Amino acid sequence: MSNTSSHLSKWSVSSRIFHWISAVLLLVTWVMIFLYDNLDSNLYIGLHKSFGISLLFWMIARVINRAVTKAPPPISMPKWQLLLSQLSHFGLYALLIAMPMAGLLMSVYGGRPVDIFGLFQISVFVTPDRDLARFYNDLHTDIIWPTIIAFTLIHIAAALYHQFVKKDNLMARMK
Ligand code: HEM
Ligand code: HEM
Repeated sequence: MSNTSSHLSKWSVSSRIFHWISAVLLLVTWVMIFLYDNLDSNLYIGLHKSFGISLLFWMIARVINRAVTKAPPPISMPKWQLLLSQLSHFGLYALLIAMPMAGLLMSVYGGRPVDIFGLFQISVFVTPDRDLARFYNDLHTDIIWPTIIAFTLIHIAAALYHQFVKKDNLMARMK
């Protein structure tokens, strides 16, 4: 067991902050659409869009942070596991960027500007098109969302596997 706490190589502080705030923003964005689905109040769809766009900006900043900071060297594991983890992390980045983009495109192709917390508005920057609005709606709700759920569940299961089965202290790298 080489990763004892004394010489544990952690993710940079900025990477850790980006990771956990992304997770919280994803959760809050989902809670808002859940409240909207159940209470049918326009307040919650507005908050859903505002938090979703916040996550988009956050993810763009996160990608830049990822490019300019050094990732810790991977812990030792079979090559196929390392490859899968890298693919799934790349997938999560792509999904968390594609999801709010699809939401934004669904809205503007539907002819609706997007208000962000009453602070500013993203205007309708395309020619509204019902078919495209429907396409991005389907992409948002039927394709990307189930994929995010699957990737996130696998991601958390992998973290728990490292924590409780392999006991290799992987989780501490992101804490
Ligand atoms: C990562 C960010 C986002 C996540 C995880 C997310 C997730 C979801 C989910 C799970 C639904 C519900 C589907 C259902 O009720 O079955 C939904 C619906 C919706 N989302 Fe998002 N969303 C995000 C970003 C956005 C953004 C940025 C916008 C617009 C600017 C947006 C606009 C909408 C709209 C209008 C609906 C309702 C669609 C309908 O009722 O047909 N979303 N979203
Ligand atoms: C309870 C929830 C979560 C736990 C325990 C967790 C744990 C971890 C750990 C330990 C790592 C580092 C792996 C390593 O050092 O090789 C990591 C990385 C990562 N996590 Fe999570 N995570 C959680 C939630 C999420 C969520 C919700 C997302 C996004 C949907 C996410 C996206 C990522 C990404 C993209 C990386 C790779 C970081 C990079 O390469 O920059 N995580 N996570």
